[in-house]
Amino acid sequence: MDDVRIRPMTADDAPRAERVTAVGFHELDTRMFRRSWPDPEIRPPERGAHWVARCRHLVGTDPGGCWVAERGDELLGIVVSFVREKMWLLASYAVVPEAQGLGLGKALLAPALEHGRGSLRGMFNASSDPKALRRYHDAGFTLHPQMFLRGTADRSRIPVVEKVREGSASDIDLMDSVDRQTRGAAHGPDHQLLLGQYPLVVSETSSAQGYAYLDRGTVLLAATDRRTAARLLWEAIASSDDVLIGHITAENAWAVDVGMEARLELHQEGYLALRHMRPPCPYLANGALM
Ligand SMILES: CC(C)(COP(=O)(O)OP(=O)(O)OC[C@H]1O[C@@H](n2cnc3c(N)ncnc32)[C@H](O)[C@@H]1OP(=O)(O)O)[C@@H](O)C(=O)NCCC(=O)NCCS
Repeated sequence: MDDVRIRPMTADDAPRAERVTAVGFHELDTRMFRRSWPDPEIRPPERGAHWVARCRHLVGTDPGGCWVAERGDELLGIVVSFVREKMWLLASYAVVPEAQGLGLGKALLAPALEHGRGSLRGMFNASSDPKALRRYHDAGFTLHPQMFLRGTADRSRIPVVEKVREGSASDIDLMDSVDRQTRGAAHGPDHQLLLGQYPLVVSETSSAQGYAYLDRGTVLLAATDRRTAARLLWEAIASSDDVLIGHITAENAWAVDVGMEARLELHQEGYLALRHMRPPCPYLANGALM
């Protein structure tokens, strides 16, 4: 790999970087998928728009956290990382299948970790790829298995959800405060991006607050107590016929309780990688923005 150059990512790299992840994760899914599940399909380019927008957003806020591995004009690997209030986070990390296992991943992760040098705490979602897990363990992260719920809810079991309202940009301070309590760092600028991509619901009472971004269930949920979190999760389940709720650590058993009551299927996949912190709770992380 002598002819490969590691250089900072630019916003113009985002569409090609998206393809590197589409190909990398398709190969991973093909290698690891369960027999009873439908064959994995590669993410079509037109479904990569959210990925590209998120990548450009993070290159903008954290240029020092985003890197590519390039040979000639071909991208072989990418890493997208960022720092929020002294927490280092990894949004995306992939090498094209034919170049995996040759040390490129290690060379890419090094400058991304360096970007987080001033941040003691770290958090991200890890795939089940044994090569990725070796890299993360090497970098000092502990790996916490995660579950997910999916299926069609039994609507007769969904309770009347009260004290939940539509959210907006005026809730960013509330959400940042909830995030500091649950995961020790606010999402800050990431809320503007999330607000443009997903509907937001908020629950606010005299004693507790919480919020959730919705898409086939939740794409991010945080609350100051389990009762508020459960209320938001019921709202998410009620909003979709085909539910997917991911990133559930054992600490978030309240979410498993809700999913079982709704008669969803429970499965296990991937890890929450953490450094110098405990699994956030009540909290269901976003796949990339955490
Ligand atoms: C994860 C990924 C980015 C790592 O990049 P890479 O170039 O393959 O990584 P490297 O070659 O630098 O390191 C791989 C490590 O796994 C080891 N390894 C290689 N094959 C392995 C296998 N089958 N099982 C376990 N370990 C393996 C290598 O020896 C190396 O460890 P070492 O440096 O301690 O010797 C890449 O494999 C990938 O894109 N995977 C699919 C997508 C993915 O899972 N991304 C991570 C998202 S969280």
